[in-house]
Amino acid sequence: MDKLLIRGGRRLHGELLVSGAKNAALPQLCAALLSADPVTLHNVPRLQDVRTMLKLLRNMGVAAERSDDGAVHVDARVLSTPEAPYELVKTMRASVLALGPLLARFGEATVSLPGGCAIGSRPVDQHVRGLSAMGAEIVLEHGYMIARLSAGRTRLKGARITTDMVTVTGTENFLMAAALAEGETLLENAAQEPEIADLAEMLIAMGARIEGHGSSRIRIQGVERLHGCSHRVVADRIEAGTFLCAVAATGGDVLLRHGRADHLDAVIEKLRAAGAEVQAVQDGIRVQSPGSAKLCAQGFRTTEYPGFPTDMQAQFMALNCIAQGRSTVTETIFENRFMHVDELLRLGARIQVDGKVAVIEGVARLSGATVTATDLRASASLVIAGLVADGETVLEHVHHLDRGYDCMEAKLRGIGADIERASA
Ligand code: EPZ
Repeated sequence: MDKLLIRGGRRLHGELLVSGAKNAALPQLCAALLSADPVTLHNVPRLQDVRTMLKLLRNMGVAAERSDDGAVHVDARVLSTPEAPYELVKTMRASVLALGPLLARFGEATVSLPGGCAIGSRPVDQHVRGLSAMGAEIVLEHGYMIARLSAGRTRLKGARITTDMVTVTGTENFLMAAALAEGETLLENAAQEPEIADLAEMLIAMGARIEGHGSSRIRIQGVERLHGCSHRVVADRIEAGTFLCAVAATGGDVLLRHGRADHLDAVIEKLRAAGAEVQAVQDGIRVQSPGSAKLCAQGFRTTEYPGFPTDMQAQFMALNCIAQGRSTVTETIFENRFMHVDELLRLGARIQVDGKVAVIEGVARLSGATVTATDLRASASLVIAGLVADGETVLEHVHHLDRGYDCMEAKLRGIGADIERASA
């Protein structure tokens, strides 16, 4: 298993390219199942999760390839097996995004239940409830959701769906299913993340009729058939936010090319309040920082978009560990998303956790040590801490990082970090 060797203390300078968003590319690859025509996606990040999704599509008998120019081509003209097997789903929960499109286009789907996850229980009950309201019959058997159209139906039907909580992939499943359903679907309490709006834009390019995406109320008029399209995946706001926190912590001046400041308002507001300078520039975001010793720690509470994203909680906590003062972080989305705390303590941080609340006392310095990644964003927070810590930090279980960051160490080295990958 690979590990990262990080030697801290360097300020970061220069420019890096922000990749396409993982959490936009994954649903869009599934959306390609909705049409018998070829679909081309550009700006798809080179990540383990994307490779898993391409494997999942090929496993169904769909042609799914990345060409030399980096574009990803999906051709779902034919599909032999409308199934997402446990072997793949257990490595990537986003496989549940195949459920809506398979049901809508082929009238059947067999999708493994995702099972447990390091950051929380993460059930899919809302997905099942919403698709059942659209005329699907879904039974759970042997660890699988076996979904069929209810008797006499040849298509899903439009419905009014109000979920008990805001769910990102739930909203995406309903959006894709409703695009081919009979009649109108109204999604209330819908997720408003930029990845949802980007998926809707792709579906509209395929001929779907959608209004209100990006708000909590989305209206979809189903159509008989969707055609192919070519779509560019939106930039990854979480990757950009991660690099903003890294530069704020180390000090420096960096341009994040293609980064979207308008998708990171809540995070940028906190960085500015801490004392970093963050500006939206032509096709990017510029961040300048005197370094964490001169920054004031900022408390925050994670909520759904446009609030402070849970996927930035760990990274911003790492920054608070070496900024001045005390801060309080409340995680409201997932019940077990403080796994990085014990590893940060190994680097000399001072953090106390009580349920959903963590209280951080900023310290003057961290010291390098061997730490273990437990999940995707926890690993990113340990990279940030390692970039500041004295001496060498060894980050083990880097496969977590590779799931969601496209060439992170090469991008960091490009702006002056001392970081390299070593295989164990
Ligand atoms: C998406 O997960 C993202 N994943 C997550 O990013 C992100 O953390 C999350 O949204 C929240 O922003 C992808 O887009 C692939 P939810 P998702 O359904 O859709 C509960 C990363 O780091 N819930 O919005 O699975 C659930 O348990 C990943 O890139 C139910 O109870 O999250 C959670 O507490 C991690 N029943 C809350 O709702 C359901 O049926 C929000 O979950 C669905 C959700």
